[in-house]
Amino acid sequence: MSSDQAAVAQVTPVQLAVVESIAPHMRHNPYDSYETLRDAGPFVPGPHETQLVTRHAEAQTILLDPRWSHAEEPELLHGDSDVELPGSFLWMEPPDHTRLRGLVGKAFTARTITGLRDRAEQLVSDLLDGVLAAGEVDLLEALAYPVPLTLICELLGVPAEAHEHVRQMSAGIARGLDPDLLLSPQELAARTAAVHEFTEFFGDLVEQRRRAPRADLITALVQAEEAGVRLTHTELIGTLLILVVAGHETSVNLIGNGALALIRNPGEFARLREHPDLAGAAVDEVLRYDPPVHLTTRTARAEIMVAGRTFTPGDAVIVLLGSANRDPAAFPEPTVFDIGRYGPGRRTERHLSFGLGLHYCLGAPLARLEMREVLHAFALRVGNLTLLEEPPYRPNVVVRGMSELRVRVEGK
Ligand code: HEM
Repeated sequence: MSSDQAAVAQVTPVQLAVVESIAPHMRHNPYDSYETLRDAGPFVPGPHETQLVTRHAEAQTILLDPRWSHAEEPELLHGDSDVELPGSFLWMEPPDHTRLRGLVGKAFTARTITGLRDRAEQLVSDLLDGVLAAGEVDLLEALAYPVPLTLICELLGVPAEAHEHVRQMSAGIARGLDPDLLLSPQELAARTAAVHEFTEFFGDLVEQRRRAPRADLITALVQAEEAGVRLTHTELIGTLLILVVAGHETSVNLIGNGALALIRNPGEFARLREHPDLAGAAVDEVLRYDPPVHLTTRTARAEIMVAGRTFTPGDAVIVLLGSANRDPAAFPEPTVFDIGRYGPGRRTERHLSFGLGLHYCLGAPLARLEMREVLHAFALRVGNLTLLEEPPYRPNVVVRGMSELRVRVEGK
């Protein structure tokens, strides 16, 4: 046996699963490695002296406990490079987190989002007209991207002709959310360029709204800044960055993953067509079954005991949301896609796809609305969805999704 073979032979299945759970080439299926990790225990040593949190109970406990901080994530994942990601409240703790989240929170209450329903329904309907007319499409390009991109841009007040530019910049930033150790020098450079471009583009829009206010979210943030609410220019740009990037890169994958789940589970698609009112419950099942965000990190700020293990200040964990969502201790038959799992009369454990606690996804009502409209429209208008080729996946680990979803779509 050569020394190389001996080295390979020494890699245990659990060590292999650790690598594969975050390896870019395993994005089409990280779930088998998650199962190996869950079986190995609630905590498994991960990269950079982190512990991977593999199961639902511990993931939930950690996310709900404010003694675990999210502020160290940029340092933890991107500490080796010189990127300047403008400070977003995703990576802040109270009181700054409370101040900034409170400012934008008003735009994202369930009631405000309900007001967008007609617009979302119309948008989905128009796009689906085009999809059905074309017959064979890349569903990501034809539907999954334009729905959330258009809605978040309209909410913010980005002019229609700039939506595509916003998409390009966001893609470079979203790729750069992965740990630096997984990024090529080109991807690191593209991230830096995208952040600069984003800062400049939105800086200009902010100046325009300062001069000529409109009824949009950028104006609302500018006015909050001017009214003396402590919001620096960098914070304003950081807030816009998180709203734009988190506001569509994730939802795109939710729509794509949902369509794929229906294609792979034709019985569930038939059930949805028979019961379109299950669309809302189906959204949550797609979120659980194949979530767009696969991991987040936390760092202990105190001595904390979780499941018999003591963490000391500075200890970091990677919470595997996608693994927690398939934990059989929380979800019976976790690998089964069941659109009624979150339906009326069923008591189902919550999935962790929007996170939990202090940083629970601010855009959850918007993401749910977008996906519900898509599923509802599918239920009413689509008879057959067929995969034309196995979908390729983007290398992204944190915000995971396909790069293309070529399908044939036939009307009812
Ligand atoms: C399917 C779509 C989405 C998914 C799966 C998703 C997922 C998440 C997750 C997991 C977190 C928590 C991160 C953590 O604790 O580390 C989060 C936070 C956040 N999300 Fe989303 N998100 C989605 C859509 C959106 C949309 C549409 C928006 C805005 C328009 C948005 C804005 C935010 C913001 C601002 C935060 C930070 C909240 C805070 O730190 O207080 N997200 N999201």
